[in-house]
Amino acid sequence: MDLPQRVKLVEVGPRDGLQNEKQPVPAHVKIELVHRLQAAGLTEIEVTSFVSPKWVPQMADNAEVMAGIHRQSGVRYSVLAPNLQGFEAAVKTRPDEIVVFGAASEAFSQKNINCSIAQSIERFRPVVQAALAQGLTVRGAISCAVGCPYEGEIAPERVALVARLMHDIGVQHVGVADTIGVGTPRKVQRALDAALTVYSIDEISGHFHDTYGMALANTLASLQMGVWQFDTSVAGLGGCPYAKGATGNVATEDVVYLLKGLGIETGIDLDKLVDAGKFISDFLDRKPNSRAAAALLNKRLG
Ligand code: HMG
Ligand code: MG
Repeated sequence: MDLPQRVKLVEVGPRDGLQNEKQPVPAHVKIELVHRLQAAGLTEIEVTSFVSPKWVPQMADNAEVMAGIHRQSGVRYSVLAPNLQGFEAAVKTRPDEIVVFGAASEAFSQKNINCSIAQSIERFRPVVQAALAQGLTVRGAISCAVGCPYEGEIAPERVALVARLMHDIGVQHVGVADTIGVGTPRKVQRALDAALTVYSIDEISGHFHDTYGMALANTLASLQMGVWQFDTSVAGLGGCPYAKGATGNVATEDVVYLLKGLGIETGIDLDKLVDAGKFISDFLDRKPNSRAAAALLNKRLG
């Protein structure tokens, strides 16, 4: 199959990227990161999450971050909300999109959001209804779509099942997430195929963590199926506090470099993106976890 001509990237660095950082990142740094990302041409930014500050302290400044962003026209801002309490707080901050997050693994659902898969769907139902009623779009994340830190390998049928449950409550789009980055191309394709039994190709995205260095290969394998939407994280930041050992998301810089090489349009300025990655990496006192960023930064040194 021909590769898609256009790809949409959802930048999840400010949320997935930072949620796992132990050192507090002040709201003004998160806001500056969002500003730099939108200046680089990212048009979809997952900014923060409205979850319990006891569970994820790093996201406790969610409202402050949302309020501090200078919104740019043409950019959509999404936030995570696992329940009605989160949604009610989120909606006051005027997001464009709400993300509910479930899992294909029972054990991970319990660890991450403290309820079963079935209970999570009942918690999402009123969130989805309220969001749609207010004209917001609703995306769902299906965690552990390939493997689970507690249950091991996850069968594609489990992904199809959660996709069906999400579809039935009105979730408009699902992200197939390899939370712990154990996927390899064929396995990821099978998980995407499972989601495609319920959602169309325009309604699914890939969300790949890079723990085993497979995220770019998995991205290419998804492109070869016609999947054209991906979550990526600047400087390869990321991880989930409830998925021990999992590292960051695939780096936005690496995916943009790949797409440029394939002649696929993203509208993203790679140099500005590298600067955004360097900005947040400098703050965190480490090097960007992106091969493309490292190469381009080295090249600048001459
Ligand atoms: P719970 O304890 O079952 O909730 O947590 P509860 O309804 O029983 O309430 C208990 C306390 O939490 C109460 O406070 C509530 O007010 C508070 P208390 O009376 O004890 O002071 N509470 C909240 N506070 C703020 N915002 C809320 C909220 N809800 C309840 N929305 C809950 C359930 C889901 C809240 C909890 O388990 C939680 O916050 N989990 C966070 C999980 C998380 O953020 N994980 C990371 C994001 S998912 C991810 O990274 C995966 C993804 O990237 C895809 C992939 O890679 O797989 C998306
Ligand atoms: Mg993630």
